[in-house]
Amino acid sequence: MDIAAAPPKLFSPGYFSDPYPTLAALREAGSLVPHPHLGGPMLFRHAEVRALQRCPHLSKGMLRDGRMDGLSEDVQALVHENNARRDDSMLNVDPPRHSRLRGQAMSAFTLARMEALRPRIQAIADGLLDSLDGQDEIDIIRDFAFPLPATVIMELLGWPAEQREQLKRCTADAIEMLGSLRTSPDPLELARRAVASGRELRGIAHTLINQKREAPQDDFISALVSVQMAEDGRLNEDEVLATSTLLLAAGHETTTNLIGNGLLALLRNPDQMEKLRADPSLAASAVEEFLRYDPPVQMLARVASADFELGGKTIAAGTRLTLMLGSANRDPDHFPDPDRFDITRTLNDNFAFGFDRHLCLGAHLARIEGQIAITTLLRRFPRIALTGAPLVHFPNLAFRALKALPVLVSRA
Ligand code: HEM
Repeated sequence: MDIAAAPPKLFSPGYFSDPYPTLAALREAGSLVPHPHLGGPMLFRHAEVRALQRCPHLSKGMLRDGRMDGLSEDVQALVHENNARRDDSMLNVDPPRHSRLRGQAMSAFTLARMEALRPRIQAIADGLLDSLDGQDEIDIIRDFAFPLPATVIMELLGWPAEQREQLKRCTADAIEMLGSLRTSPDPLELARRAVASGRELRGIAHTLINQKREAPQDDFISALVSVQMAEDGRLNEDEVLATSTLLLAAGHETTTNLIGNGLLALLRNPDQMEKLRADPSLAASAVEEFLRYDPPVQMLARVASADFELGGKTIAAGTRLTLMLGSANRDPDHFPDPDRFDITRTLNDNFAFGFDRHLCLGAHLARIEGQIAITTLLRRFPRIALTGAPLVHFPNLAFRALKALPVLVSRA
């Protein structure tokens, strides 16, 4: 395939229903190929992403001022307005600020703490399915895959449960702005809506933080507020706000899609569904395979902060790199038979949770939620089948998410 003659078709509707054939063709054609709209080379191979893990010259902070080619000045201005608050969030900054911000949250998300949450997560999962009693057709995304992780993270952080739908709308707009500006028929409307939702979310968070300051409770936002009020001032108010909203959004959007994408893979591979039904102890390795086979986060971006060598090429300082995680996870040079969905795969060092210093802080929680979600669905519904309604993914380059996953279930 000649890349120059046939540029990557990342923006076609077909790409979003199944990106993997396009990614395979691009990976075979060569890596480190500049994409006209992504502002720099794309990396498709597992070995290249792995090599970057040890690279000291990668910046997220430098993404802040990048221009997005092909978008109008009005849209660029709104993107910049949104970016103005990036520096308060661990997700967007480099050391030493990153280490300080991440350090305040790390101890709350350890494996031991997350394991201790299993009974509560199980109770939430069962409660959600109890509330669907009598319904033979359900939308897995709306009825289960969204409310499960959303309820868990809101309880952990201390957000009032009644704000769930409002928070969902605000974070969905942010996610759409991150990955759909290029595919939207009206990028200006999308950018305006996302900026307004960002303001709305910060407003709610601001009120909540003030309440926690007045009357602290046993939750993570109260813990952050106490750090802010500590004499050494380890966090300022904007950082408490950014950490709270980051954890809220990151804590449910992607886990919803882990559950949705994973269940869809099982439905399309009934032998694997039967294997998991027969042996629920495979849940942990099944979830790793969900993460490899159809990862919720499809691409990451970095900027080279100095010249360095990668795959025999020089990456010049200032170059923006786009790491295609969905492609690296299907690289045949690393994973044997990569397009086969196999819940017993043993070598599964995939990049679904990113890498290096920004490695997902919530990975333990997400894995546990995924395991509980899938084993509970299979235990409660001896039969689950697709309804046959067309399945539609959001046209989002960064996040792989189904709009709905309607299924027919039987309880007997
Ligand atoms: C299956 C579910 C999830 C997936 C696939 C996922 C994926 C990722 C990825 C790829 C990154 C790295 C971003 C980058 O390098 O630019 C990341 C970072 C992060 N994730 Fe997750 N995530 C998931 C669930 C969660 C949960 C449940 C939480 C909440 C506790 C969470 C909190 C975070 C945070 C705070 C970061 C930023 C870490 C940093 O910058 O140091 N994630 N996640």
